[in-house]
Amino acid sequence: MTGLRGRAIRGHFVHAPDRGAVEVLEDAVVFVGEDGRIERIAPARDGVPEGTLDLPPDRLVIPGFVDLHVHAPQYPQLGLALDEPLEVWLGKYTFPLEARYADLDFAREAYGRLVKDLLAGGTTTALYFATVHRQATELLAGICLNLGQRALVGKVVMDLAESCPDDYRDASPAAAIADSRAVIEAIRALPDNDRVLPVITPRFIPSCSDEALAGLGALVAECACHVQTHCSESNWAHGYAIDRYGKTDTEALDGFGLLTRNTVLAHSVFLTDSDMDRVRSRGAGVAHCALSNAYFGNAVFPLRKALERGLNVGLGTDISGGPSASMLEAARMTVAVSRMLQDGVDPDDSRETRGRPESRIDLLTAFHLATAGGGIALDLDIGLFRPGYYFDALIIDAAAEAGTIRLFGAQPADRIEQILYTAIRPNIAATYVGGDLVAHNHESAAALPRT
Ligand code: GUN
Ligand code: ZN
Repeated sequence: MTGLRGRAIRGHFVHAPDRGAVEVLEDAVVFVGEDGRIERIAPARDGVPEGTLDLPPDRLVIPGFVDLHVHAPQYPQLGLALDEPLEVWLGKYTFPLEARYADLDFAREAYGRLVKDLLAGGTTTALYFATVHRQATELLAGICLNLGQRALVGKVVMDLAESCPDDYRDASPAAAIADSRAVIEAIRALPDNDRVLPVITPRFIPSCSDEALAGLGALVAECACHVQTHCSESNWAHGYAIDRYGKTDTEALDGFGLLTRNTVLAHSVFLTDSDMDRVRSRGAGVAHCALSNAYFGNAVFPLRKALERGLNVGLGTDISGGPSASMLEAARMTVAVSRMLQDGVDPDDSRETRGRPESRIDLLTAFHLATAGGGIALDLDIGLFRPGYYFDALIIDAAAEAGTIRLFGAQPADRIEQILYTAIRPNIAATYVGGDLVAHNHESAAALPRT
């Protein structure tokens, strides 16, 4: 099996252009250009060119997942250290781990493992926080490019001495800005870079000085980069900006010029109505991290309300605030927590007052958010099977013996919900980014026709 640039692929394609539904392209041929973008989509009955990758009927092609919130350096503690609240967890476990990325050998090994695992798990695009270290951040960008993952990579800015350890922070606001600028330039200068972008990344307001935040705002205006940060994640984090500025995170970030159409705000659990309106009017996006919020968020993000107010939302795993690297898990958890929000959680409360009505969302909406929604939040041509969009896709093997999808004879295209609920990694036969084959599962790949 090889890449698909300049070739076509025939099979059943399922994607989610809108919330709450999928579109099935049954027995279709997708033509991929040399640039890795979809050129054209046509029914197979109109003709299948020589050299087309022809999939067996138990395969289904879906868009690759877009993970809007990953702390790349935290992968070694995935599934560990979830026993403390956010502000304690950061100092006790997370900053000491991230400080180790000054060692480039350690960084190379951990980042290589992460990117390979995410590709095999179906994450074709990731929005990454790296660490404060300039060189290790550039290393992560290079690893993504070499392994073929579409990625947005940010050097973390955290310069405030009172909240950051001496051995793990930017030396000064000026150094933080200079290093951020250098990383942006280095990523943009990577040879043959058609898929890795730089991101301006103030960790969150509690770890940054006003000078650093203002300097990064000016850098955004100058470089037209993406921006990412944490916003109103927990009661403590939400209260911090209010104490410091008498403003919410959203208002303060906007004041520093950090709330743009290319900004992604992680968590955002405690956005006020006027924060939501501000996020919407700026065209910024939210990375909803349902699993992580169960540990650190203190509440459930009102996703449906945010969607109904017109916010751009995608999903994030928040490795390692959430103990799973899988976007399938993120989508499932998104549905589960929305139902808990709707019904409420304390059985001693009355049925009438226990929950928040009209809060649940369905799995197809979660699938939309995990794919097209992430693409919209990042303003990239990804997450859909449409001419002009990159061919970032997963071949799902609904019959893999080592997998957990059991359709009992049903057609995969009719069972997208069952597939999304029950799939595990062995069901992902192959992962493509920009038409390039970037991961494949040996069991499933062996059953693919040789081409
Ligand atoms: N807030 C500031 N830093 C972090 C982090 O690393 N993870 C999470 N979940 N929240 C944060
Ligand atoms: Zn985070």
